[in-house]
Amino acid sequence: MKQKLMFLCVFTFLQISCYKVAVVGTGYVGLVMGAALADFGHTVQCVDIVQEKINQLNKGIIPIYEPGLEELVVKNTASQKLSFSTNIQHALEQAEIIILAVGTPMRQDGTADASAIFAALETVADVLQDHVYRIVCIKSTVPIGTADLIKNMLAERCTTGSFDVVSNPEFLREGCAVKDFMEPERVIVGATSPKAVAILQELYQPLQQKHIPFFVTDSATAETIKYASNAFLAIKIAYINEIAELCQKTGANIFDVAHGMGLDSRIGNKFLTPGPGYGGSCFPKDTNALLKKAEALAMDLRTVRAAIEANDAHKKNLVNKVAALVPGGLTGKAVAVLGLAFKANTDDVRESAAIDVINGLLEHGATVYAYDPLAMPNMKKIVPNIHYAASAQEALQHADAAIVLTEWEEFKNLKASNKKLCKLNIPVLDTRNILRES
Ligand code: UGA
Repeated sequence: MKQKLMFLCVFTFLQISCYKVAVVGTGYVGLVMGAALADFGHTVQCVDIVQEKINQLNKGIIPIYEPGLEELVVKNTASQKLSFSTNIQHALEQAEIIILAVGTPMRQDGTADASAIFAALETVADVLQDHVYRIVCIKSTVPIGTADLIKNMLAERCTTGSFDVVSNPEFLREGCAVKDFMEPERVIVGATSPKAVAILQELYQPLQQKHIPFFVTDSATAETIKYASNAFLAIKIAYINEIAELCQKTGANIFDVAHGMGLDSRIGNKFLTPGPGYGGSCFPKDTNALLKKAEALAMDLRTVRAAIEANDAHKKNLVNKVAALVPGGLTGKAVAVLGLAFKANTDDVRESAAIDVINGLLEHGATVYAYDPLAMPNMKKIVPNIHYAASAQEALQHADAAIVLTEWEEFKNLKASNKKLCKLNIPVLDTRNILRES
């Protein structure tokens, strides 16, 4: 069942076990993971229900912006290690390892919607009837307890089937997901079956050679590690943003404060950069889902709740801060919004502070001129009724005030002095603190 490939290294022969893998879902996680596993030497079929996406991928067109991904996809499709299809049944039948990487978006009530996982499991259950041993690996961020639920569900449906369910949460950051996959800080595996653990070790063998920690625990614990990690980072950001507000009132220097704090190895110097509030498809969704999970168990996660509230308030208050810079208020004024993506190096605008800011500006009766080097097509789908400029300069031409929301390199060339953009002499709120002081 396993093909053995021999890789010649400089000093030694390394034997890599290669598997047939099906990845369900070609979003940020599924696509990066599929391409990277193909690069490890496995034979990977990525499947998705969206025909248009698969058509594009088969033509070598990557539907998302992710540095290094296109090269990886093109290289591994050319060597036939990677392929794309909408035929889920066929891909799963051929696979030894089935990786579920579909989206689990936030529902209106804050809980995670795992319906795409359960829809895919219908096909998994059918395929497992053939008595061939397979691993069902849950990569999507799912509510704690889901892997056990799936195990029981599949066991009921496939009394003749032979399988293991494994939780294997992802820790990739958008914008550097390929690098994060190739050089992760840890691989977390939630599994009780020694056979499944051994196969996952082989799946990730190139990482083991780099001595990346491979931590095995039970599936509920693995699922909790994912939520607890994201919530902790969200708390850290919400906290530094509040301390930044305090510094503005006390006259202390927030960057020196963050640096001084970070010198304590118990605190660490990462995720202490103040900004417009965390966004993206993960922190807002995962903090809310964790809170809801706790609520369902009759407990309140007060620290997580506080981070969510502080972050929401921080994002909403940005408009008041812009208004305070403009004499006479925002009504009838033009404001340049520089940066729409929730962070640099991505075209993703999900839960971006820019959405709150633009809506707030429009409510105040302002006209908005927005610019982002990558994210304008995505923002146009959410907010079509504003002006989109071809450059930062063009957006600023019309503006009475400006706000910088994303830390794009090109904005770092703008000069400001005393909260005003030089030359144009218009007030600016630099939420990322990236403008050059002149
Ligand atoms: C986050 C986690 O960092 C990943 O480990 C995780 O795999 C991923 O969620 C996920 O659950 O899939 P991501 O959402 O891509 O990754 O973005 P981050 O780089 O973590 O940034 C999140 C938000 O925090 C952004 O809005 C960013 O601008 C903000 N941030 C980050 C700050 O405001 N300050 C900081 O110091 C760091």
